[in-house]
Amino acid sequence: MSGFTGQHILSVNQFDREAVEKVFSVADTMRPYANRDKRTQVLDGAILGNLFFEASTRTRVSFGTAFNLLGGEVRETTGMSNSALAKGESLYDTARVLSGYSDIIAMRHPQAGSVSEFAQGSRVPVINGGDGANEHPTQALLDLYTIAKERAASGAGIDNLHIAMIGDLKYGRTVHSLAKMLTLFSNVQFTLISPKDLAMPDSVCDAIENAGHTLRISEQLEGIVEADICYQTRIQEERFSSQDEANKYRGKFRLNQQIYTQHFKSQTVIMHPLPRDSRAEANELDNDLNLHPNLAIFRQTDNGVLVRMALFALTLGVEDKVKDFDRPVHWYTNKRTI
Ligand code: NCD
Repeated sequence: MSGFTGQHILSVNQFDREAVEKVFSVADTMRPYANRDKRTQVLDGAILGNLFFEASTRTRVSFGTAFNLLGGEVRETTGMSNSALAKGESLYDTARVLSGYSDIIAMRHPQAGSVSEFAQGSRVPVINGGDGANEHPTQALLDLYTIAKERAASGAGIDNLHIAMIGDLKYGRTVHSLAKMLTLFSNVQFTLISPKDLAMPDSVCDAIENAGHTLRISEQLEGIVEADICYQTRIQEERFSSQDEANKYRGKFRLNQQIYTQHFKSQTVIMHPLPRDSRAEANELDNDLNLHPNLAIFRQTDNGVLVRMALFALTLGVEDKVKDFDRPVHWYTNKRTI
């Protein structure tokens, strides 16, 4: 990726290590604005079209928040039934139309490949907020940014990482994108733990191995005591043919304080893209870990705002102008520390 301005962000395959590091360095500069220490109007007048044709809380709201924090405005379309796609309009036509109303578009859709198809009709940059079971590139960037920050505390980088990915690795787009993005770094060890039927797709395993990383596949929580990161996931019930089918796998890999102590070293950082399924039959990440200092799940969601601000600034070509449009903040802020 030679430059970001005017580019779509559709897949992690577009990124090299330098591009990832560029996003991270711009994300760092967004901290004072996300913390409400200062505000900026650099995107004054710009409009984000936030199109979410599939359920979302944090991705949709953090894209919107990130754009607002840069001074831009957000127009939302949520749910397939509320859009003309329900009348048979093609993604191409919807893209031609909506790109006339916005400066940039973030989009989520249940079909793999749909966001790229949409981008072909768009006259403005399109950012993939998740296309079916395929990819979730901005989640991979925020996950990797979080990994970098968690590791920096102990003087380590992303190179030489051991990550355990657990749960629904077949349909989980976050693990597909994160695993592929991690292959850009050196000497990463992957331990992939899932029921056999929900194993990581061969294309992702091949990408890991072809890049020379270590890959271990298991159906049990075992051999992960040395993992630096435990990346837990939800059974993606919306991708199964029936609830009964999804029920077969719910609750297979739970993580709670006792299991954590038994299987992981005391420094292992616990991540999850969220939402965690907290219903008793699933409960993949127990509330008894909520106050654990290694639980990074809410640091991930906070970091998502910084990373999405960085992506907007880069794709709209204002990453060096943000502070030229600074203003003080006048209202009460609780001094959040992202
Ligand atoms: C994930 C997604 O939608 O792929 N959520 C998110 O964007 N943070 C993971 C999930 O839904 O399980």
